[in-house]
Amino acid sequence: MRYLDLDGRRLSVVGLGCWQFGERLWGYGSEYSQADSLAVIQRALELGVTVFDTAELYGSGRSEMLVGSALSSWEGDRFLATKFLPIMPTPRVMVAHCERSLDRLQVPLVDLYQIHWPNPALPLAVQMEGMRRILSLGLSRYVGVSNFSLRRWIAAERHLGQPVVANQIRYNLLQRRPELGMLSYAHKNERLILAYSPLAQGALSGRYQPGNAPRDVRRTNALFTDAALTAAAPLIEIIREIADAHQSTLSQVALAYLIAQPRVIVIPGAKSLEQLESNVAAADLELSPDELSALRRGADLFRYSRLRSTTQVARRLLPKGRSHRGA
Ligand SMILES: NC(=O)c1ccc[n+]([C@@H]2O[C@H](COP(=O)([O-])OP(=O)(O)OC[C@H]3O[C@@H](n4cnc5c(N)ncnc54)[C@H](OP(=O)(O)O)[C@@H]3O)[C@@H](O)[C@H]2O)c1
Repeated sequence: MRYLDLDGRRLSVVGLGCWQFGERLWGYGSEYSQADSLAVIQRALELGVTVFDTAELYGSGRSEMLVGSALSSWEGDRFLATKFLPIMPTPRVMVAHCERSLDRLQVPLVDLYQIHWPNPALPLAVQMEGMRRILSLGLSRYVGVSNFSLRRWIAAERHLGQPVVANQIRYNLLQRRPELGMLSYAHKNERLILAYSPLAQGALSGRYQPGNAPRDVRRTNALFTDAALTAAAPLIEIIREIADAHQSTLSQVALAYLIAQPRVIVIPGAKSLEQLESNVAAADLELSPDELSALRRGADLFRYSRLRSTTQVARRLLPKGRSHRGA
């Protein structure tokens, strides 16, 4: 495992996304069980994973409970992050929700408390006042945001009066918007990017082709339309070639591309020990500059931006010869 430093804390470049635990939308309770979930978290700890990301939203609190129970007897390093669902992000509500998360997690404080999504209906200054209160009550060590634009992230820091240490955002080889400024901000200012859906929810694993997309929570993910899966095929082939050269898997190459970028921590979800162990091993896969460029070029072939329907996906595919302006 490799680690990034945050004030002397060791943050594993491969963390564990915990949405899958307790979340029936992902197949919890049918495809995999509570025992499987606990085993994955415990194995992650043994393998040197220190970053665990959950949210009050996941499985309506079940994810936090499972994470709390699996981590409760662990005495080694760990960096525990959870997220507040900002339906009513007033300071009083934020503190109350944070306290409930701590109860489910069985801890007196978390390492990172994040706002799950921007809520423009209430001033950011008020929401950051809530975060300041959480810090001053000792309920979290650090403040984070999620799904914030760079402009909003910087504004959050101004209102908080101190660094918002992390922005958790969607980042994978098919969706590379963070490369347009966000990564360099994090790099220059020693912030962190927590890359969620780093495997594009499995679209980069090579397991799914047109006609056999998963029918679970991913039914609404436009990356799993036949058109998008077809459009991703050239990139998947490049990933496959690189994976073969390293005797690794496609998923490992997809993760290795992301953690080759400075200040990026990936938080892939895993439903089994096999997936977890494979994802953790990606931390030790080093790609050459040529391989990274090939992946970037392959990803440039796939243009994807907030597309809803199959037709839109097809229509907006990169025309030959056009340069990349962001995924
Ligand atoms: N802040 C936010 O708004 C937000 C949004 C989404 C997620 N997140 C966080 O980010 C974490 C990860 O994102 P995600 O779950 O959306 O997507 P992801 O990590 O890209 O994909 C996870 C899925 O990929 C498949 N997979 C995992 N490891 C694999 C491997 N080694 N080989 C092949 N397939 C593998 C599994 O599904 P199958 O086996 O069924 O294919 C797994 O459920 C979440 O757990 C959550 O903590 C945050």
